[in-house]
Amino acid sequence: MSASHSTDHIVSGPVPGHFTVPPPLRGTVTVPGDKSISHRSLMLGALAVGETRIEGLLEGEDVLATAAAMRAMGAEITRSDDGIWQVHGVGVGGLLQPQVALDMGNSGTSTRLLMGLIASHAITATFTGDASLSKRPMGRVTEPLTRMGAEFMTSPGGRLPLTMRGLSPAVPIEYRLPVASAQVKSAVLLAGLNTPGITRVIEPVPTRDHSERMLKGFGATLDVEIESDGTRIISVTGEAELRGQQIVVPGDPSSAAFPIVAALIVPGSEVTVINVGMNPTRAGIFEILKAMGADLVYSNERIVGGEPVADITARHSILTGIDVPPDVAPSMIDEFPILFVAASLAKGTTRTSGLDELRVKESDRLALMAKGLARIGARVEELEDGLVIQGTDGTPLNGGNHAPVIEASLDHRIAMSFAIAGLVTKSGLTVDDMRPVATSFPTFLPLLRQLGAVPA
Ligand code: S3P
Repeated sequence: MSASHSTDHIVSGPVPGHFTVPPPLRGTVTVPGDKSISHRSLMLGALAVGETRIEGLLEGEDVLATAAAMRAMGAEITRSDDGIWQVHGVGVGGLLQPQVALDMGNSGTSTRLLMGLIASHAITATFTGDASLSKRPMGRVTEPLTRMGAEFMTSPGGRLPLTMRGLSPAVPIEYRLPVASAQVKSAVLLAGLNTPGITRVIEPVPTRDHSERMLKGFGATLDVEIESDGTRIISVTGEAELRGQQIVVPGDPSSAAFPIVAALIVPGSEVTVINVGMNPTRAGIFEILKAMGADLVYSNERIVGGEPVADITARHSILTGIDVPPDVAPSMIDEFPILFVAASLAKGTTRTSGLDELRVKESDRLALMAKGLARIGARVEELEDGLVIQGTDGTPLNGGNHAPVIEASLDHRIAMSFAIAGLVTKSGLTVDDMRPVATSFPTFLPLLRQLGAVPA
């Protein structure tokens, strides 16, 4: 796998996308596999003994960056013509010294989780990334991993590019998460896999639990204790032996949110997204939309590969603004950009708070969403830790006399959120560059075509 995807962008130049009011959206669609589960499938498969078979892997740039890195560290990873991926792992402790820098492209999840894996191996690795990733904070991961014995030489501000040296045997730690982050939790747990003794993460605010579920599924000894105030204490026993697994990756709820919100806000629409992951640590967006009055129906609820899954049918709805409780934020952390679009069309005011983390995602999502929504006539106030949006009660937003050009700033979810906003904008809008959608949702534009949201 080439590791050059991030430079391909620079060579080919931006690809703008124009979006305007479509006929009602209709159809049944699937979205690609869950990004979080896809990364972890490749990483744990690469550490297991024997073969891991992955069905439904997200073939987006972020996940391909993880695949390339695991190959560079000795795993054998292949894809058959039917789309099934096979991973032959090296065994816990068996990662090899990579001979090239690990190009993480746009992917924060690849970077932070891989730093965890490498921290407890006696290898040296250099991480590079695109302009967006190179601005993101890494101290949240380098700090606990340093306590475990790893060494880091970072760019100013603790950022990428950075070079790290892992330590084997590493030192087990007990780490209380200072920030609600599944990436930080996972980095420490993954480092703990090859560390003698018990590595413990204390999580005061629950975040997505795919690492815990999958580590258990691969055969690690992992205990989760839940205290009376909801704090989770997660203990992984080191020098684990993982065994290859058969994995079926559910559709990504973070991707499903885009066609679902599109159906809710484009009059006359009815869209079903099948096979959507409904893990409670991820499905906050659907519950919040329901609380706003969204007509969402779950059907065919089932368990696939240890994760709850459902089909979701969304019909056009008049939404009502609400105060979004800050404690739901971790369960919909990636869905706020598209929620802000939905809120712009709602009746009344939507208030969000406790969203400081949105400022350090692939972009400053609070600033970019506030700026872009204001440009298309939404009434939005930017606070330090959230947005307050006065909705239009279903009236389309004003794209201005000329369709404005909205900056996506290398952020896939900003690009997709404004593509959907364009569908409810009288004179349309242009997203400056749609290429970032390839990181998480390479079929985004074909899916919009299938629903009639953009011309075929
Ligand atoms: C992810 C965790 C979240 C999320 C990201 C994926 C993961 O990041 O925003 O898209 O797979 O663990 P944080 O840990 O920074 O909240």
